[in-house]
Amino acid sequence: MQAATNYALGSRILHWLIAALVLVLIPVGLWMASRAEIDLFDDLTNTLYAWHKAIGFTVLLLMVLRIIVRARNTAPAYPVSLPRWQVIAAKSLHHLLYVLLIVTPLLGWAGVTAFPALITLGGYDLPAMPFIPQDQALATQLFGIHGVFAITLAVLVSGHIAAAVIHLVIRKDGIFQRMWFGR
Ligand code: HEM
Repeated sequence: MQAATNYALGSRILHWLIAALVLVLIPVGLWMASRAEIDLFDDLTNTLYAWHKAIGFTVLLLMVLRIIVRARNTAPAYPVSLPRWQVIAAKSLHHLLYVLLIVTPLLGWAGVTAFPALITLGGYDLPAMPFIPQDQALATQLFGIHGVFAITLAVLVSGHIAAAVIHLVIRKDGIFQRMWFGR
């Protein structure tokens, strides 16, 4: 049997779907938080919050699915030409991204549970996170940590995108195609 040269189809679909959602979430998060900071709670701010919470919660659910799909399929081996330090760097960054993509939305969800501000699109409420008390001081702390994690995630995602572009445009070594569709 021939070794797989790219990720399982489910992993690839989830990768691009989650990537698109995160690229929307970060600017929306920064935008709404900057409006909240100047106490501008109008329809636009509320809509941004509603979308942010709905998309963020969706990312959390998709990440759970992604971890299951990833665990059930072996990743393609890296080409032997790739230096060992680059393999270690890539794997470490990917693990860190997985952790942040789970912990960051969990902190946001915990924050809106503690606040409480569970309302999202169409007036629907998110489920409350179990074991989180209603406590505004706790909510403020959780939002603070959520923001720091989100910014860290944004920095790491930028590095991840830069590495992918270098492989696609400069090295042309097939690394990008492992996560793409077709050959
Ligand atoms: C991968 C998922 C997520 C990312 C990348 C993300 C990103 C961000 C960013 C960049 C900010 C602005 C931080 C700041 O300026 O201090 C923010 C704020 C916020 N996020 Fe998220 N977020 C995610 C998931 C969630 C989820 C699941 C919820 C709730 C269900 C949520 C609720 C909030 C709230 C309420 C704020 C505003 C906090 C405040 O006003 O201090 N986020 N998020």
